[in-house]
Amino acid sequence: MRLLVCGGAGFIGSTFVRLRVAEQGDEVTVLDKLTYAGREENLRAVADAPGFRFVRGAIEDPEAVAGAIEERRPDAIVNFAAETHVDRSITEPDAFVRTHALGTYVLLEAAREHGLRYLQVSTDEVYGSIEQGTFTEESPLRPSSPYSATKTGADLLVQSYFHTYDLPAVICRGSNNYGPYQYPEKLIPLMILNAIHGDRLPVYGDGMQVRNWIHASDFARAIGHVLEHGVPGEVYNAGGPDECANVDVVKRIIELTGAGESQIEYVTDRPGHDRRYSLSSEKVRALGWEPRVRFDEGLEQTVAWYRENNWWWEPIRSGDYREYYERQYGRALS
Ligand code: NAD
Ligand code: TYD
Repeated sequence: MRLLVCGGAGFIGSTFVRLRVAEQGDEVTVLDKLTYAGREENLRAVADAPGFRFVRGAIEDPEAVAGAIEERRPDAIVNFAAETHVDRSITEPDAFVRTHALGTYVLLEAAREHGLRYLQVSTDEVYGSIEQGTFTEESPLRPSSPYSATKTGADLLVQSYFHTYDLPAVICRGSNNYGPYQYPEKLIPLMILNAIHGDRLPVYGDGMQVRNWIHASDFARAIGHVLEHGVPGEVYNAGGPDECANVDVVKRIIELTGAGESQIEYVTDRPGHDRRYSLSSEKVRALGWEPRVRFDEGLEQTVAWYRENNWWWEPIRSGDYREYYERQYGRALS
């Protein structure tokens, strides 16, 4: 396929691009604003692939979007572009509203104008928190953070373009992703790098919040599946095979890195913290997808990747991220 992948320089977007180029031979244009979380280095492996092109630009900029489409005429737009960190959405929500509301609107208009298939990458957080049981695609939308509320708004806009204009749009909602190339503000890479460096491991609240972990390669393959086989207008959930409480994730990382439990520090809880996420993936499984990576094995491989790839994280840990960390956690990194 010929794809326009928005936000393809981020964690999951770049995983998707690397896989699609290697496994399907897709011709990919990446359109990415390169915010603090987007890095061209994430696309090094495909930089010389036939038909690959990188364009720096924002999805809320209609000219940048038109330019990215007109030169190569894609079959579909896959939109990963987003502000993705719940904690940042609590302290600075404005970019979340701009990218998720305005950016999604600009992309939908472009898809409509050029007659393109459209896939919106979304999240289980649109359903809110669930104490027991698991969310299906029919569950009510009850987002609780500025991140999840603006992602929900984007999903509703996508659905309105299907109902109103017959735009062949699909939505794929993933659970918590982990794996190589994830920016270290998120739980797993933050804990791995802090564990390796002998820094404190800041667990929010009682650490008993549960997340449904999916390896980014599994989510990327689910997105590819939905793009190829999904029914227009439909939503598909892709949840990981395993759930785990945060403090147990941290203890496993301590074992894998040889750090000490004395590094754990229970800190003030996140405001409005969702207790548990859990997704049913029956609908996307019926399309022939299933997750390949169990959490235990995937976590071990992820720890090994961070250990072996200092080139990737050293510039982050020595740059603006240090200031972010001090602001967020009230202490400096070592
Ligand atoms: P990320 O923060 O690593 O990457 C986001 C990318 O989008 C970056 O490359 C950034 O530069 C780019 N971007 C941000 N705003 C942009 C804009 N206005 N215009 C163009 N590019 C822009 O995020 P991720 O974890 O890879 O998440 C990708 C998508 O998957 C998001 O839509 C997110 O909501 C969704 N998702 C993430 C998870 C998760 O656990 N990380 C789970 C489910 C769904
Ligand atoms: P995060 O990776 O931010 O993903 P999300 O909020 O989208 O689920 O956080 C995962 C869980 O880990 C969440 O319950 C918050 C918790 N957490 C901590 O306990 N300490 C931390 O330093 C971070 C970043 C997250």
